[in-house]
Amino acid sequence: MRRLFPAAMLAAVLALPVAAQAQGSLNLYCSAQVEWCQAAANAFQRDTGIRVSMSQKGSGEVLAQIRAEAQNPRGDVWFGGTGDPHLQAAEDNLTAEYRSAMLDQLTDWAQRQARDSRYRTVGIYAGALGFGYNTELLARRNIAPPTSWADLLDARFRNEIQMADPRSSGTAYVMIATIVQLMGEDPAFEYLRNLHRNINAYPRSGTAPIKAVARGETGMSISFVHDAVTERLGGFPVASAIPSEGTGYEIGSMSIIRGARNERQARRFYDWALTPAAQALGAENKQFQTPSNRATPIPPEAPPIAQIRLIDYNFAKYGTSAERRRLIERWEREVNSLPR
Ligand code: G6P
Repeated sequence: MRRLFPAAMLAAVLALPVAAQAQGSLNLYCSAQVEWCQAAANAFQRDTGIRVSMSQKGSGEVLAQIRAEAQNPRGDVWFGGTGDPHLQAAEDNLTAEYRSAMLDQLTDWAQRQARDSRYRTVGIYAGALGFGYNTELLARRNIAPPTSWADLLDARFRNEIQMADPRSSGTAYVMIATIVQLMGEDPAFEYLRNLHRNINAYPRSGTAPIKAVARGETGMSISFVHDAVTERLGGFPVASAIPSEGTGYEIGSMSIIRGARNERQARRFYDWALTPAAQALGAENKQFQTPSNRATPIPPEAPPIAQIRLIDYNFAKYGTSAERRRLIERWEREVNSLPR
């Protein structure tokens, strides 16, 4: 059945330069912060004439969406978000193999992400997990800033901590996988149950907790430390800390969706997004991850991941679908269902 074309849309299409119409279009699913997503969409459209429509969602939400759409894919490229759900999408055959000619230019960790997924995803940035806190609010309440995972169970943080919901947020899944790797699974779940008492909310998006910290709605958050830098540079009284026991990290990733309607444009975006010029859009939009092209300047504001005590994060294990499902179900059952 033919669908009616709204007059306004028709007028907009006719107004596009002929070149843009000929170049086609791209549906971009984006799990980085919306400012970066929008800047990438605009710059790619300007550079190539390909029309981009972008929608921003958390890493777990995009994974669920491309799974639901697998028989009739609507998205073409998934840009950004934590690496584990990209690996899970690869394992579940939801994303397409692509060996970009740009791969040689990338850091070892970014290439490893590509190899681990049999070239169904690739690393675009890296970032370490830690704590963000509101310096003014903690000082006013006489609360010493957090320095360790153990600190977070302290009564001084009662009702004072936010972390995202691991069902929708890749950030929160990295946190759970990190605690399991640091402590072993049963002690980790006991830790998460005790932490639950000090948590005031588990919002959907990975960056919602640090934004709540910035606004003074909560004292501290479990966040990627580069997201705390963004808020500080936005003028908010926000500082960050790395847990003394060590911490986990993300390899932010990019994948082409299997069965993409605009596969040619998707590959073009993929190659483009791995160039230093495209990667520099992150820092230009106050996003301070460590970029994956060795020639992209590392922004001076980026937390120095080489100096952070990182765990040897087991992406092969925690990037599998079975492990993600199991850990999230256990969290729902044993942690989230408890009263606070
Ligand atoms: C922010 C961070 C990214 C991260 C993303 C995950 O945008 O800057 O480094 O990949 O959050 O978002 P999510 O909502 O899935 O936790």
